[in-house]
Amino acid sequence: MSRVFYLTTPIYYVNDAPHLGHAYTTIVADAMTRYRRLAGDEAFFLTGTDEHGDKIAQAAARAGISPQALADRNSAAFRAAWDALGLGYGDYIRTTEPRHERVVQAILQQLWDAGEIYLGKYGGHYCFGCERFYTEKEIVDGKCPDHLTPLTWIEEENYFFKMSRYQAWLIDTVQRQPDLIRPERYRNEVLGFLRDPLQDLSISRPRTRLEWGIPLPFDDKYVTYVWFDALINYVSALGGPGEPRFEKFWPVAQHVTAKDILKPHAIYWPCMLAALAKVHGKPPEAYLYRHLNVHGYWTIEGQKMSKSLGNVFAAVAPAEKYGTDAYRYFVLREMVFGLDADFSEAGLVGRLNADLANDLGNLVSRATTLIVNLAGGNVPALPAEAKFHPFGLIPDLRPEYERALAEVKRAMTEFGFHRALGAMWEFIGAVNRFVDQTQPWLIAKQIGRRQDLDAVLYSLAESLRVLGILLSPYIPAAAARIREGLSQSGEPTLADAEWGRLTSGTRVQKVSGLFPRVEDHERRPAGTAKPDTTAGLISIDDFGKIQLRVAEVVAAEAVPKSKKLLKLTVSLGSEQRTIVAGIAQHYAPADLVGKKVVVVANLEAAKLMGIPSQGMVLAGSTEDDGALAVLTLDRDLPPGARVR
Ligand code: MSP
Repeated sequence: MSRVFYLTTPIYYVNDAPHLGHAYTTIVADAMTRYRRLAGDEAFFLTGTDEHGDKIAQAAARAGISPQALADRNSAAFRAAWDALGLGYGDYIRTTEPRHERVVQAILQQLWDAGEIYLGKYGGHYCFGCERFYTEKEIVDGKCPDHLTPLTWIEEENYFFKMSRYQAWLIDTVQRQPDLIRPERYRNEVLGFLRDPLQDLSISRPRTRLEWGIPLPFDDKYVTYVWFDALINYVSALGGPGEPRFEKFWPVAQHVTAKDILKPHAIYWPCMLAALAKVHGKPPEAYLYRHLNVHGYWTIEGQKMSKSLGNVFAAVAPAEKYGTDAYRYFVLREMVFGLDADFSEAGLVGRLNADLANDLGNLVSRATTLIVNLAGGNVPALPAEAKFHPFGLIPDLRPEYERALAEVKRAMTEFGFHRALGAMWEFIGAVNRFVDQTQPWLIAKQIGRRQDLDAVLYSLAESLRVLGILLSPYIPAAAARIREGLSQSGEPTLADAEWGRLTSGTRVQKVSGLFPRVEDHERRPAGTAKPDTTAGLISIDDFGKIQLRVAEVVAAEAVPKSKKLLKLTVSLGSEQRTIVAGIAQHYAPADLVGKKVVVVANLEAAKLMGIPSQGMVLAGSTEDDGALAVLTLDRDLPPGARVR
């Protein structure tokens, strides 16, 4: 039975151009939707643009055009970016569309009629950038905590939604549904917000101050506050309560947003939905979404992305330069969903070369070439008596694959893209080792080993077939090329990604150049010299070869006849070592005993003044060694703990 799946991205403000941050969220929605479709669900995702409010009106005034003209132009720019990236949204909603305005007004009227909205007075510190009032607690040095710009004190009569009455219900609901807001850190943050009393929510702006919004149906001297308008897009796109599309998709609705808009999604929106359910005579959780999936923020080369720093990456720029699949792969693999991550071109190229060109691209080219050259391009039958054995000549790839598949399924239920891709690359690594170990080109030359060769080639072809399916949500173009190379037509399905379904006789063609390597010089704009900072850079893998550990100094003594050396006995928890360190001019032996220091634990042993030294103690020093300090810990850790 096919299940349904409905996912939404935030609707993006049209005063900005689409950039990497917006692209990430939309890529996440696309990859997740493709995955759910692969799994057999009727799945679609919604994206769109948020077009009302001060911010848009001000940007339009600056541009000398009407707000609608600005919204039309920039909404089209977002749409064009997603089209260029091949992101298959099922619907694209704009808050200036009549289908949206109608639902917003209907909901407002119902809440007004039911006494969920009242007219009150409000004074507060307002940020025009965020379009919201800030509480005293949130303000940083009198400024907006997000924009760091001064806030404006505004006092006016406004309509309020009685949000405070839902506080107890919301706390209870978030506690009872541990996966409602995920990952956990954001759930905790929400429970933290909810420890303070919840205020009622101002939901209108007087038209004397702001024209550019949806008029309140019960008082047209006011327009709807931007968040009340914007959040409703998620249901207006389905036609609103009572409509067949709403009844079908809303019960499974999931949202994805970044952490910047956690509060509106985790607090305002559930309360609005609870009030609406109540008005419709249903229990308060009847309309609650299923999950709010919250991710972190991208920085660019370690810095906040900002116009003033000039480091804003246009949404499609990395795809134009390195291909859409490489871009998708990088962002999905690099960001641990929920945490912040850093985007850099060097990082993207590093992963492109290592993971995509080397691990995957080479495997696909190697395996298809072997099948073409050694089996005439036909997948051999899997010999009935093929003896796979983990320690035998021909290792069995099936368990490796099944482990990866299970992890992909688990990870994808909770937006763990990095884990899913990590598991697939473990499998790709296993298949590469399989080729190195079995050496099919040698088996082919040995008499009486036809069946072994068939078993190896079948395993390779089957590995590529399942990868062509399993990789399709993440790198759809490359996955399609793999499937084509193995004559797999039609839409891939997860049900087909079961090991052993490949039939013998399937035609295989060579697939080469799946991900061409990007050489270093191609990364730099023509004519620029290699910047000094990149000279001698090492990769994270290189760094990973150095094993640093916490060590406790248990004994220390001077080395006879040496001015510089001390002989230290250190404990790494499970073992003791002798390390000779050149620090005698800066430390007396007694000063070191009991200290926790950091040592290189996998350094080749060396003899210093005849004493074997098994490692090195890390210390910082000035250029001339005039001052020196041994690295110690800021907080206690047991000896042997890894440092990285
Ligand atoms: N219009 C509101 C959302 C209304 S939803 C009912 C809005 N728009 S926005 O254009 O500012 O988009 C914010 C969203 O863009 C974030 O939640 C996130 O999805 C994405 N991102 C913007 N910058 C980002 C990063 N630097 N990193 C990751 N995502 C980022 O808020």
